Amino acid sequence: MIGKRSGSYTVVANKPIGGDMFRLAVAWKYAPPGAGQFFLIKSGRSSVLLGRPISVAHYDGCAVHFLIMKIGTGTRELAETREGETVFMIGPLGNGWSDVLPGALQNGKPIALVSGGLGCAPLLYFAEELAARSSPSFHFYAGFSTASPELTGMITSISVPPQKLIVTTDDGSDGEKGVVTDALDAGAYAAVFSCGTTAMLKAVAETCAKAGTPCFISAENHMACGVGACLGCAVKTMSGNKRCCADGPVFNAREVIFA
Ligand code: FES
Repeated sequence: MIGKRSGSYTVVANKPIGGDMFRLAVAWKYAPPGAGQFFLIKSGRSSVLLGRPISVAHYDGCAVHFLIMKIGTGTRELAETREGETVFMIGPLGNGWSDVLPGALQNGKPIALVSGGLGCAPLLYFAEELAARSSPSFHFYAGFSTASPELTGMITSISVPPQKLIVTTDDGSDGEKGVVTDALDAGAYAAVFSCGTTAMLKAVAETCAKAGTPCFISAENHMACGVGACLGCAVKTMSGNKRCCADGPVFNAREVIFA
């Protein structure tokens, strides 16, 4: 993983992608971040003290792309930034999916990427990394509350799309009606990689544990400093509290003690 940097970076694009979501692209001339890593980001003219932790969804060689939901002052300010303006970023931060990938591939089966809502963002980038390596094959399970053609379109637009895409929606407006964990046949996979709400991650972890399938999750705990200094993002594990921002955000689900 490359070392973190901090400073002001130029917005190269900012587009709404449906609902309260937007896609922000920020110029990045350094080494590519790892899939699963995140940045702390805030608008260059922000009134908030701390940047929001946002996972990388794509890197195009010139800019890092983020998928963001407007849920508070910091993200609303980011939504209002325009091309040519600046954002303040610290990153890339945390570990990544590739840190745990080698140990997860042992039996030649495909792997499954399982997302809930905008949890698809770090898995999109992971899928691109997998595509670049030409292995292993992967299936993508994407759960949404309602149809999200923009996010589904991003999954089908990955340079090497998943061999299988399973979409679920709570309201049945796209794919299978229900929650994504109901659709997951965990025993069919060498490993499962998941990002979404804590409740969803817990359900994925339990499904995988029953099937004996390794499972790795990206935790989305609240963060403050983002760099391992404040202990404000504790994840309970079998070996004590871990810092989501510095020891994660990717954890072996077997180690995590879910509330
Ligand atoms: S946010 Fe401060 S230690 Fe993780």
